[in-house]
Amino acid sequence: MTTATAPSATDLFARALRYENRADPYPHYAQMLRHPVARMDDGSWLISGYQEIRQLLHDPRSSADRLDPQNKAPKAARSLLLQDPPLHDQLRRVVTQEFIPRIMGMRDHLGELVARLLDAHTGTGPGQLNIVADLAYPLPVTVICELLGVPREDEPLFGSLARRLTRGLDPVDTQSEEELRELDEARGELINYLEGLITQRRTSPGDDLLSGLMFHPDPDQVMDPIQLRVTLGLLLIAGHETTVNLIANGTLALLRNPDVLARLRTDPDLATPLVEEVLRYDPPVQMSGRSALADIDIAGTTIPKGSRIRLMLAAGNRDANRFADPDLFVPDRRDNAHLGFGGGIHYCIGATLARAEAQIALAAIARRLQSPRLVTDPPPYRENAILRGPEHLVVAFERLTPD
Ligand code: HEM
Repeated sequence: MTTATAPSATDLFARALRYENRADPYPHYAQMLRHPVARMDDGSWLISGYQEIRQLLHDPRSSADRLDPQNKAPKAARSLLLQDPPLHDQLRRVVTQEFIPRIMGMRDHLGELVARLLDAHTGTGPGQLNIVADLAYPLPVTVICELLGVPREDEPLFGSLARRLTRGLDPVDTQSEEELRELDEARGELINYLEGLITQRRTSPGDDLLSGLMFHPDPDQVMDPIQLRVTLGLLLIAGHETTVNLIANGTLALLRNPDVLARLRTDPDLATPLVEEVLRYDPPVQMSGRSALADIDIAGTTIPKGSRIRLMLAAGNRDANRFADPDLFVPDRRDNAHLGFGGGIHYCIGATLARAEAQIALAAIARRLQSPRLVTDPPPYRENAILRGPEHLVVAFERLTPD
């Protein structure tokens, strides 16, 4: 007689990362949720419960240092995403001061950019769009490059660098030696490019975010050259590689739920709660990490000081102890405090911008594409497991109407 043993936390984590499971990792997260706090064979901790993740995101004893053996940069040369207070708070204050005012009042401009991208495909008859390449990717790329002051002609270079670099976010043991070498090369190219851009701005500042960071009126707030470069790199990568998946995952949810698509067409205000639901149901950032600065008691277990912690944001978003019918896509879900943008002191700085881009793009898709349907379902997914989204999302339509 054989007895079925429940898969271990280590197995479940590996299954959630495996490329064959990329189209639907959620059944594996559901299994993780049976043990919301679980120890893995390598001594790290797998946290999948909503409350437990929130507790750790807000706990000052959980450090943003992921203890990633692959990250060889000295601590001071890491971005604010990986820093703890007080340096984190200092850097975040400067970035927020420069970033937030520049994105206020941007909705009209975003509407124009979306219109321009879709207009390129307007016609009188049936056609196809690759939502990723034609809309979801170029929109955030243009926006972040405009904000930071990266010249338009460098956008394609950035696109390819960002794509090569995001693979570096995945756990090292899922990558071949060649991939790791390729990553190092891409990092080197990014550093060279950013240094060139900074040197150029030093002699000819503009009114962009980079110039704002470089010439801050308060000398105490001016970043040192290394921090400036890593902050710029963080904003560029975060601006390139996350919003694309929010728009693409949102389009997928819309096309799989034709009733929701029809509602959005007649009620564009639905875009606001709908984007929140995409961030809960199929979040672009699936997981994050921390480490324990002290013993942390959580859900009756002690995570010992010095442990690595994996926060499964996408699993927490499907936790039935927090969300009713967690596996249902409910476009106007209330009480939707999802973990899609993280939480606590590292809560996403770009959340307002990403929300606005996705709301405007999804509303335009619903309004302008007549009888849209997916050409391949599920679509091919990107290799990356942490940033989850389709590689291509081809949508056929009867007509793309002018705005
Ligand atoms: C942090 C998600 C777009 C800039 C984060 C975190 C998440 C996240 C989950 C927290 C990570 C953690 O605590 O470990 C997303 C998603 C986006 C998005 C889902 C799009 C849909 C953006 C954009 C920008 C941005 C457009 C800026 C251009 C940042 C920065 C941080 C951050 C700077 C670090 C904040 C800190 O450490 O204090 N983001 N992000 N993000 N995000 Fe985003």
